[in-house]
Amino acid sequence: TEETLVLVKPDGVARGLTGAILARIEAKGYSLVDIGLVEPDRDTLEQHYAEHEGKPFYEPLLEFMMSGPSVAIRLAGNRVIEGFRSLAGTTDPTTAAPGTIRGDYGRDWGLKVQQNLVHGSDSAESAARELDIWFP
Ligand code: GTP
Ligand code: MG
Repeated sequence: TEETLVLVKPDGVARGLTGAILARIEAKGYSLVDIGLVEPDRDTLEQHYAEHEGKPFYEPLLEFMMSGPSVAIRLAGNRVIEGFRSLAGTTDPTTAAPGTIRGDYGRDWGLKVQQNLVHGSDSAESAARELDIWFP
């Protein structure tokens, strides 16, 4: 069975949406393998977001991710990587489809960073790499 890294990002935790997001993940049928509240340091986030280094939203993204705790989840199930990305919706919460996590709970708050509530690994390679970072 496949595994992915899901994060409920600081906006999701701060807004009290962790339970609602977990309920959707569980209702979809995926299995929680490990879960915990984490306050990542800059080094962890630089590893996690290495592909975005140098982009204009990189610094605001790291600041945002250090603004409060996240919930890290090791999630399992057949095709869970693809399945959770579908559940999450597209990156921009303004246009993410209603019925998705980002589409139902997210919006543009006028900030430099897109606060879009969740992260999900985008490939098997990313999942393996990211799970090692967040669940060493
Ligand atoms: P994740 O599941 O969080 O990785 O989202 P994603 O795969 O849909 O997006 P991506 O990996 O491309 O970007 C990571 C994060 O950077 C996003 O979730 C946003 O928070 C932020 N981000 C990505 N693209 C932009 C952008 O064009 N502008 C801004 N302001 N933020 C962005
Ligand atoms: Mg991504």
